[in-house]
Amino acid sequence: MFRISRAGLCQLLSGSLLFLFFSASCVQVDAAQVARGQDNRASEADRFVNDLLSRMTLEEKIGQMSQIALNSPEGPKRDERILKGEVGSLLFVRDPVEINRLQHLAMEKSRLHIPLLFGFDVIHGYRTIYPVPLALAASWDPATAERAQRMAAREASAVGIRWTFAPMVDIARDPRWGRIMEGAGEDPYLGSRMAEAQVRGFQGDKLSDADSILACVKHFAGYGAAVGGRDYDSSDLSEEQLRNVYLPPYQAAIKAGAGSLMSAYMDLNGVPATGNRWLLHDLLRKEWGFRGFVVSDWDSVLSLTTHGFTSGPEDAAVRAVHAGVDMEMTSTTFRDHLADAVKKGLVPQSEIDDAVRWILLAKYKLGLFKNPYVSLDRAQKELVSEEQRTASRSIATRTAVLLRNEGGLLPLKRDVTSIALIGPLIDSRPDVMGSWSLGSHPEDTVTVVEGFERSLASTGTKILSTKGVEIERGQPSIFDDQFPSPKPTLTTDAAKEAEFHHAIDLVKQADVAVLVLGEAQTMNGERASRSTLTLPGKQQQLLEAAVATGKPVVLVLVNGRPLDITWASEHVPAILDVWYPGTEAGNAIAALVFGNAVPGGKLPVTWPRSVGQVPLYYAHNLTQIPKDRDTRYWDGSSAPLYPFGYGLSYATFSLAPMKTSATTVHSGGSVEVSVEVQNTGGLAGDEVVQLYTHQRSGSASRPVRELKGFRRIALKPGERQTVTLTLDTKELGFWSPQTHRWSIEPGVFDLWIGTDSNATQHATLDVTPQP
Ligand code: BGC
Repeated sequence: MFRISRAGLCQLLSGSLLFLFFSASCVQVDAAQVARGQDNRASEADRFVNDLLSRMTLEEKIGQMSQIALNSPEGPKRDERILKGEVGSLLFVRDPVEINRLQHLAMEKSRLHIPLLFGFDVIHGYRTIYPVPLALAASWDPATAERAQRMAAREASAVGIRWTFAPMVDIARDPRWGRIMEGAGEDPYLGSRMAEAQVRGFQGDKLSDADSILACVKHFAGYGAAVGGRDYDSSDLSEEQLRNVYLPPYQAAIKAGAGSLMSAYMDLNGVPATGNRWLLHDLLRKEWGFRGFVVSDWDSVLSLTTHGFTSGPEDAAVRAVHAGVDMEMTSTTFRDHLADAVKKGLVPQSEIDDAVRWILLAKYKLGLFKNPYVSLDRAQKELVSEEQRTASRSIATRTAVLLRNEGGLLPLKRDVTSIALIGPLIDSRPDVMGSWSLGSHPEDTVTVVEGFERSLASTGTKILSTKGVEIERGQPSIFDDQFPSPKPTLTTDAAKEAEFHHAIDLVKQADVAVLVLGEAQTMNGERASRSTLTLPGKQQQLLEAAVATGKPVVLVLVNGRPLDITWASEHVPAILDVWYPGTEAGNAIAALVFGNAVPGGKLPVTWPRSVGQVPLYYAHNLTQIPKDRDTRYWDGSSAPLYPFGYGLSYATFSLAPMKTSATTVHSGGSVEVSVEVQNTGGLAGDEVVQLYTHQRSGSASRPVRELKGFRRIALKPGERQTVTLTLDTKELGFWSPQTHRWSIEPGVFDLWIGTDSNATQHATLDVTPQP
């Protein structure tokens, strides 16, 4: 809920070093560990935070639990509140001078000198925009996602932002949902690898490093299952689905050390996530041992009453705290009601203390008590630096997915006489950046036309460019005050028609046409669900008219969700999906189109033929008459247009027969699955080897296939490489709705290896009980 304009305003699992650092520095560390003297840092943090806590008034504690947004209605009182210790965090302040000024009030002028935590949505870049998270997942390369978020953390921290509301790890199986673009797609295994990689990227080697920022894994939990793909709507998920599909990326992010977590807006199985004690306490704290702090989503504490869950703001504050929310984002029910509620005995003091302890601890781990200020020269060096641009460009080329390339039309030869470059997105700066670009400056963006001009500068090739059509944007986006939707320039029917014909004339004059079509920036993200998946406006007609000229056509898709391109998949020879590539869009797209970069991404979501098929995902269960699975609609195919994991390259690859290190393994053991891959094409390229499994029988039906391993490799022409994936039987475990627990059930498993979820190389594996 956006009441205020945005711009206007443990499970203590062994794991990464970062995780160890994070858990080790907790106040409530494992007592035995401290007693054994294994963790001096923990006891230091413990003493520090507990001492501070003992000196805080109730109002100061509630202050730490309150986050206010830039220019919220209390704007004028903000300084005063900071001085009184009534603010724990600020959202959307991003001028380093102002950040230092406010921090100075907290550090030097407030009674207890507790630093403020400045948060911002650094989702796919701060000032330099990187490909959207769905695109990062399409790289099928966790190192790429980690690098993008490391660079983003460097930039954001350079202005004093030390907390991001990312990664978003919600599994999404319905592309109507606008926020599918913010996550890693439909699969828990891929989603988990992307979740942990992003946490590593944001939080760096040590949270206290000046260029590390605190991650906030969100939106806990089940937000991606909103009914009908309608943002904010309820999610109804069985515990089986929740635990096997929707929760694993959260566990992975927490295991990687994510220092905070955001509760979701919607209700899960009838109980709003922000007031859901089972989620935030029983599962998160008790079962998983989460040691970070929990922030609500924007106004989601206040909206507990809108849900018909709480009777008013006081009840909302009381029940949110009881459920396990430690900090309230933007609404003020904590500040307005908690002190009274404690005095009335509605909230135990211990619940307040626990919440504040987690928050202070995070500030301690970030090193904010020692180094609260940002050095002003960092911003100058870091923001849209050449290093940032280079990283953004290279990552954008690694996230593109080649969907079709008949006759090897791509890469295009540079020495053609002329290229028609057509489409409403060829010269748009905001659109190619994607939704969460609030810290960007659109003028930094390289447009597609600019990218092509640079790339063809030394050739005599003429670029004939025009929009052809404009995208009707429909309702204003929640970011409209930051990026006002451009006003249409084609206002009359005659002007629209003339422009359309002009575009088709240019296609006729050129040797080849590149059509850049897709969705405007505001058609994805929060409150941007769609009831259709078609190319918005008259883009489909433009595409069909261009193809009808008989000229070779390349379709470059700019999008945040799978679109209905069923017609194009039969009539357009080359289709390249670049998602929302970010600041370096034009350069990256030109590099891909002309072969300076070779697409090697794979789909992180199943691509449906039409909206009527959704939700559609590869890991469905086998049910009655499985061989009819693709013909389950009377009026069309029920098979996807492109399967999960699919993507082509300018190179071609062959796979030798797969090998497994054993045909039997006991539960708890592991087996190695390997395959030799050869580049059989004439260009260097990347391939992604994917391993899928299936449990043949057990206490519950299991998905027909589940991804359990993958690796992206680069091969030169003719080069061979053996890829060995270790399948740990732990990965074969699942939460059974019959036994109500997580276990590996011995039995026969199918294994497939290949380059998408239709992989055909097959072996079986017998999993025997643990000896
Ligand atoms: C979104 C969150 C976001 C927050 C702060 C909310 O509306 O759901 O994802 O982090 O706003 O901008």
